[in-house]
Amino acid sequence: MTDPTAGPRHDLAAKLTTAGALQSPAWVSAFEQVPRHAFAPTCWHRTATGLEYLDSTTPEQRDHWLAVSYSDVPLVTQLDATGTATSASSQPSVMAIMLEALDVTKGTTVLEVGTGTGYNAALLCHRLGDDRVHTVEYDQTLSTTTAAALAQAGYHPAMRVGDGAAGWPEQAPYDRIIATYGTERIPPTWLRQCTPGGVIVANLGLGLVALRRDEHGVTASGRFLSRAAFMLSRADPAAAMIPDAAFDPGVLCDGSPADAPPDLRADSFVAWLHLHYPGIAQITIPGPNGTGDQAEHIYANRMGSWARVRHGQVIQVGPVWRDVHNAHTRWVRAGRPEVEQLGLTVRDDGHHTLWVDNPSSTQRWSLTP
Ligand SMILES: C[S@@+](CC[C@H](N)C(=O)[O-])C[C@H]1O[C@@H](n2cnc3c(N)ncnc32)[C@H](O)[C@@H]1O
Repeated sequence: MTDPTAGPRHDLAAKLTTAGALQSPAWVSAFEQVPRHAFAPTCWHRTATGLEYLDSTTPEQRDHWLAVSYSDVPLVTQLDATGTATSASSQPSVMAIMLEALDVTKGTTVLEVGTGTGYNAALLCHRLGDDRVHTVEYDQTLSTTTAAALAQAGYHPAMRVGDGAAGWPEQAPYDRIIATYGTERIPPTWLRQCTPGGVIVANLGLGLVALRRDEHGVTASGRFLSRAAFMLSRADPAAAMIPDAAFDPGVLCDGSPADAPPDLRADSFVAWLHLHYPGIAQITIPGPNGTGDQAEHIYANRMGSWARVRHGQVIQVGPVWRDVHNAHTRWVRAGRPEVEQLGLTVRDDGHHTLWVDNPSSTQRWSLTP
């Protein structure tokens, strides 16, 4: 009997190849053969009106669920009590970019942090063999369910429950480390657990970065590949909350209103600000009729400081605006670089240097820990 998922799997692999996300025949073949639908039997996916829940066991939903499983979209597979996504199968094109950047060959050992549904681990097992793949998940219950799904699909990577920031020291070193949750900074542990010459691929702020560890093992360095944002580490402190007062037009502020630069919402500045100040939350409230020119932007840090930008004027409480403004000044002086022009060097003591174009550029900045 023909497998009804073979066509959709091939179509997805072909689409990712045409888009340039998949490049090597070995990864094309892995995407053609590993069944994504087996790792998300229920999921939510984003539609124009919100999140749509799909259940493979509901007969009238099955065809739609299968089509969505083989679309280039993320599938949310777990929500917490507040409705925040806590696990997902990442967008296939982003997974493909990361796997290609990992630069594996036969025999390469890999540590994945963020097992999630297990689909990425299954792709790694398919390509490298079960004995080469180690994966760490923060969520005990999820890890148990995922181990069963992986076994059912015929894959048996080494699995562990814990904070991925600690890696898996007992099994180290690894030739490659891939992080599939977002992190504010690269934990030094990953450098220490990566072989000299090895590669670390991760999502930092709003960018994907591929770092190669030097032969002496002191630093890892590399370019940002593209924009992408993953769900953040569940072990890190919660993101800053925007205080209610920031939404109140009548609220009193400290200091006199300041002028705001007009390009604060440029994608490249938003990404730049995230890299420099990962603790600052940013939201935009669209203007009347959804217009961008009358939109308001609000920034807040974890200390309760906030700033609201409206009609080019800043109303602020506390020092957060100073940080946003300083970051903007640096971004303008750097020539308003796009994410793909940026690179990162991380030392094994945790020090991060952001640079433009190449690591020895004069345009480089230490990132705060
Ligand atoms: C986007 S999902 C991972 C996608 C996954 N690789 C897949 O193929 O389905 C992110 C996962 O990282 C896990 N996670 C979040 N913080 C973590 C941490 N500090 N250590 C390990 N896993 C973490 C989440 O529980 C979630 O399952």
